[in-house]
Amino acid sequence: MSTRDTLGRPLRDLRISVTDRCNFRCVYCMPKEVYGREFRFLERTELLTFEEIQRLAGIFAGLGVRKIRLTGGEPLIRRDLERLVGMLAAIPNLDLTLTTNGSLLAQKASTLREAGLERVTVSLDSLDDEVFRAMNDVDFPVERVLAGIEAAAAAGLSPVKVNVVLKRGVNEDGMLDLVRYFRGSGHVLRFIEYMDVGSTNGWRLDEVVPAAEILERIGAEFPLEPVPPEYPGEVATRYRFRDGAGEIGVIASVTRPFCGDCTRARLSADGRLYTCLFAVSGHDLRAPLRSGASDEELRQRIEAVWAVRTDRYSELRSAATPRASKVEMSYIGG
Ligand SMILES: C[S@@+](CC[C@H](N)C(=O)[O-])C[C@H]1O[C@@H](n2cnc3c(N)ncnc32)[C@H](O)[C@@H]1O
Ligand code: SF4
Repeated sequence: MSTRDTLGRPLRDLRISVTDRCNFRCVYCMPKEVYGREFRFLERTELLTFEEIQRLAGIFAGLGVRKIRLTGGEPLIRRDLERLVGMLAAIPNLDLTLTTNGSLLAQKASTLREAGLERVTVSLDSLDDEVFRAMNDVDFPVERVLAGIEAAAAAGLSPVKVNVVLKRGVNEDGMLDLVRYFRGSGHVLRFIEYMDVGSTNGWRLDEVVPAAEILERIGAEFPLEPVPPEYPGEVATRYRFRDGAGEIGVIASVTRPFCGDCTRARLSADGRLYTCLFAVSGHDLRAPLRSGASDEELRQRIEAVWAVRTDRYSELRSAATPRASKVEMSYIGG
């Protein structure tokens, strides 16, 4: 069965945020000035339980979802996450993956793999320890993330994708070091344009390093050629090194928005359904879940939300876009 929105887009991917908390304070995502001691994170009772997540995931799978990505906040700080992985891995025909900052991956990679996780994406913005520590803003050393990436590959969570958000004047000069390091390793680097998600990161267009420039700078040293997309709705545009040393991707969400074939829904840690990363509000699924709704009632509710979906924020983005109330990425799940 395939549910389609007003623009004919099917529902194929679901990103589930398992916590709004994080042990990093990346400057572009959870700036310390906002996410300090005073910040009120969700209480434990507000979070969906693993059983509630599994139940919803099964209903989403019935509506056509084929890929689930666990995210956050930092998903690996949710206690016993491997138990949830095991529960979701039991749902047939689902590709199960996870996005992490890598800080706890060295310890957890093999248990996650054994529980049924298929792949991981690790975020890593710089190989330069000083730059990396400043960007995560909790002084976390880069070598521990690199160890996490190797542990993930060794555990069979491969190919490991490595996400890099480039911020003009902050880590852009480290772009080629990352390419040199990861070329030929089997891990796939993906450069992401810094986005105006949420309203706390003080985003400015002149801090975005456009994908075209990224490709030009990398291609000048390592000639590239395009690779056709693997499936419709793939967010990264792929390129391979002409010398055969693997591939990279660019995610040009600002300069080349891909709303037209966006098949993603997001579930926040407290059970709200969002149909766009740039949404202002979500649809509560926790209340009906906790007040005894049947699977069929939940299915109808989700289908009704998707059927009226019109979102194409990135295509319509303009200087006049209201910014104050957009939901934060650490809450909705990146
Ligand atoms: C919100 S994080 C959640 C998962 C995990 N904590 C991590 O960092 O991988 C998911 C992804 O969103 C990216 N991200 C966060 N804020 C962003 C922004 N303003 N623009 C582009 N990407 C962003 C992060 O770099 C990360 O790759
Ligand atoms: S990008 Fe990930 S690691 Fe960084 S603050 Fe956001 S949620 Fe945490």
